[in-house]
Amino acid sequence: MARCRCNGKILCLCLLPCVMMSHLLVYIMVSIFVAVSYSPPQLPVHFIAPGASSDTEAGAPHPLGSFWSLRLEDRALWNHLQHFQDREHNPILRANGTHTESTPETTRGEEETKDCSPDQRWVSHLHDFNVLPEQMKDFVLSMHCRQYTMLRDQPNLCSGEDGEMETPLLLMAIKSQVGHFENRQAIRETWGRSGWVKGIPGGRGGLVRTVFLLGRQDTSTGPHPDLRALLDLESSHYRDILQWDFRDTFYNLTLKDVLFWDWLSKRCPHVQFIFKGDDDIFVRTDALLDYLHKYHGHSLNHNRTLKDQQKKELFLVGDVITNAWPNRQPSAKYYIPESFYRGVYPVYAGGGGVVYSGALARHLRQVSQWVSLFPIDDVYLGMCLHRLGMSPTHHPGFLTFDLPEADRRKPCAYGTVILVHKRSPKEMLLLWRELQTPPANC
Ligand SMILES: *[C@@H]1O[C@H](CO)[C@@H](O)[C@H](O)[C@H]1NC(C)=O
Ligand SMILES: *[C@@H]1O[C@H](CO)[C@@H](O)[C@H](O)[C@H]1NC(C)=O
Ligand SMILES: *[C@@H]1O[C@H](CO)[C@@H](O)[C@H](O)[C@H]1NC(C)=O
Repeated sequence: MARCRCNGKILCLCLLPCVMMSHLLVYIMVSIFVAVSYSPPQLPVHFIAPGASSDTEAGAPHPLGSFWSLRLEDRALWNHLQHFQDREHNPILRANGTHTESTPETTRGEEETKDCSPDQRWVSHLHDFNVLPEQMKDFVLSMHCRQYTMLRDQPNLCSGEDGEMETPLLLMAIKSQVGHFENRQAIRETWGRSGWVKGIPGGRGGLVRTVFLLGRQDTSTGPHPDLRALLDLESSHYRDILQWDFRDTFYNLTLKDVLFWDWLSKRCPHVQFIFKGDDDIFVRTDALLDYLHKYHGHSLNHNRTLKDQQKKELFLVGDVITNAWPNRQPSAKYYIPESFYRGVYPVYAGGGGVVYSGALARHLRQVSQWVSLFPIDDVYLGMCLHRLGMSPTHHPGFLTFDLPEADRRKPCAYGTVILVHKRSPKEMLLLWRELQTPPANC
């Protein structure tokens, strides 16, 4: 002890490293403490657009930018109209909501039982209205109307009076036209056959029913042979035709979705899955059922909360297209002038066909009332999904642009395919026959 007291220099030399070490330790501890206690601002994983409806939140898996645009894009008619719609139904400004799922009939019916004759009210918003193609003009003149009389209904498609019809697992809603008898018949005989569909080997099947969505023959482009009597016959024989009283034109296809959702809510509210497609595609229905069972099937746990169930149930699958721009070629089928719509399209699932849940159909029906009609049906569906805070799911088996030319005749090439566009009625029958007996060596 005495030695140490005398020799302060040595003591200092001994202590110095210790002091430095302890400083270092304190520094390390402080920095660890800071690192541990700091947490970045927590973003909710599930973005919930509040107020939109009592349970829309289940359909909002993630934020997709702002729900409603604050900047008024006044130079384009659709953006202009939608701006006001979005503000009207802004869930924050109108926290109470203007609408709940329990009362869709009343809010809707009263507002929209209006005159559906051509309306000039938006014409002045389009500086180039007079030089637009006829179909665009027609669209602008009739876009205020989405209530059309039903000419043919199938009230018992999903549940007959004494329950003789069972609710199908999968309802296939196919957009067709009055004249496309051959396509419809080919579909009935092949992939759209109503009844129990066997699954793929080792998979589960399901009850499938097909309906065709029709408008009225478009007689504005010239005289047409009168096919009504034939359609009567077909409809009474197969009982799978839904028809509404609007001109069946390309820009009116969106009406088929909107009116179909209405129909569905009345006639087939409990169907689990819906396939929406065109009448010139081929679907491997058994593979589709297998996919649905695997990834979206009901688990038999009845204890699951309603909300959990909805999260699992709300989906739309197809060939997803992102960052698409409107076509600005006036001669193109998909032409959308700048005076009508500006900006990119939302993420959407391209034509041919998509599959979605019955639960989503109910949400789509509701939200579509707040989305102005748009002439391209796939894009419109994307717009509605966007407003539900959802995006479609891509599936590589949905081949909107077909297989490579060389593979089309090889049954083996269809192993992973769910849908191909496009196939004539004859090709449907041929392909169907070939795929009945899967070749052994693929
Ligand atoms: C919401 O509803 C409550 C009661 O119904 C009402 O008192 C309140 O003013 C409403 N708020 C808004 C923003 O409308
Ligand atoms: C859609 O159908 C309605 C009702 O038949 C018609 O007035 C309108 O011109 C059609 N729109 C287009 C773009 O063809
Ligand atoms: C549901 O919950 C009840 C009671 O909590 C339990 O007895 C039952 O086994 C559960 N059923 C399932 C399918 O998990």
